[in-house]
Amino acid sequence: MSVLSGKNIILGVTGGIAAYKSSILVRLLVKAGAAVKVIMTPAALEFVTPLTLATLSKNPVHHLFTEEGDTTGVWNNHVELGLWGDLMIIAPATANTMSKMVTGGIDNLLLAVYCSAKCPVYIAPAMDLDMYKHPSTQHSFEKLSSYGNIIIPAGDGELASGLSGKGRMAEPEEILSFIEEDIEKQLPLKGKRVLITAGPTYEPIDPVRFIGNHSSGKMGAALALEAAQLGALVTLIIGPSHVEAVHSNISRTNVMTAQQMYDQVFNHVDKVDIAIFSAAVADYRPQSVADQKIKKKDSTLTIELVKNPDILASVGALKKRPFLVGFALETENELEHAFAKAEKKNCDLLVLNSTRDKGAGFGKDTNKVTIIDRKKQTTVYETKSKQLVAKDILNEIIEKIK
Ligand code: C5P
Repeated sequence: MSVLSGKNIILGVTGGIAAYKSSILVRLLVKAGAAVKVIMTPAALEFVTPLTLATLSKNPVHHLFTEEGDTTGVWNNHVELGLWGDLMIIAPATANTMSKMVTGGIDNLLLAVYCSAKCPVYIAPAMDLDMYKHPSTQHSFEKLSSYGNIIIPAGDGELASGLSGKGRMAEPEEILSFIEEDIEKQLPLKGKRVLITAGPTYEPIDPVRFIGNHSSGKMGAALALEAAQLGALVTLIIGPSHVEAVHSNISRTNVMTAQQMYDQVFNHVDKVDIAIFSAAVADYRPQSVADQKIKKKDSTLTIELVKNPDILASVGALKKRPFLVGFALETENELEHAFAKAEKKNCDLLVLNSTRDKGAGFGKDTNKVTIIDRKKQTTVYETKSKQLVAKDILNEIIEKIK
């Protein structure tokens, strides 16, 4: 999955012959899962039609502060457009537009949006070789870089003028991979390996029955997806659950019992930097599993249970262990129990849920958590979607491992 998936991208197109390639760039961005809004300079309209870019981006293309023929005075709000973008790409960027970006010479909508945008800006210059080499263009590159803008180097080759040299806009595919790689290398969990346990465990009684719980696996799946999007390589070990967690950075292992989860965790734990144990593991399992379905006989049935290994505590006891995050679901004296659990299991962070909180717990799409650390510092979070809770948990982890 591309890091651009779900991102809002403003594509600024200026008046150079390479503008025709912006249509290919729009397609690639949309294919990568981004929402794209195109803004053109008046000169760009000479090279490519707004209809082409509107059709490909599935969004209206803007080039004026008010739309042509509009008598209602509806204004293309450059501030709103600028804030909408998670990133802005200007491709092709002419020498003229770049010099105005340097000086703040705002005489069209694209320049107004550029000056209003707070997001990262990528610039793909395109011009003839002598214009590219000119000190004023080199000065623009330096200045724009000093503003924090990222220049995507132009390529060497045949130019529209018939000359050959540096100045060709990078190909749309190159622009896409340049931006993806640049974003990926800045991801806070890039290069980290994360192990996550999730879902319930089922402890068989006989071939058809088991002891289980209502955990859905949604919280663990949300954590896996969020960690993957932040650049981590994730190993998700999940008990019986239909929840999906699909991302190229996630490798999923399905297990059924606590013992299987324990075995899988210990297959991976020495290779990971962070372990998050969100699974609702059965504390006990039947001592023996009947070969055949147990028949109804007496009015009572006794099943002897034996203790399952505590996966979190076992990892907490390791000499060399990853940064460790446990979960605790409590029903009363929540904080007191959570502090004791964090200490006993040797967690770096403990995520506390209370059954007394509405909007928290098994099967729901929302959760309400309090996160405590080794120094017993607590942060209480509002009820929110499990995706947003996953972001909060990972942000706390990132802060701590810095
Ligand atoms: O002791 P309690 O079950 O409340 O602890 C909850 C935390 O311990 C969770 O992070 C859970 O995933 C983990 N746990 C475990 N193995 C067990 C029991 C709980 O990893 N057998």
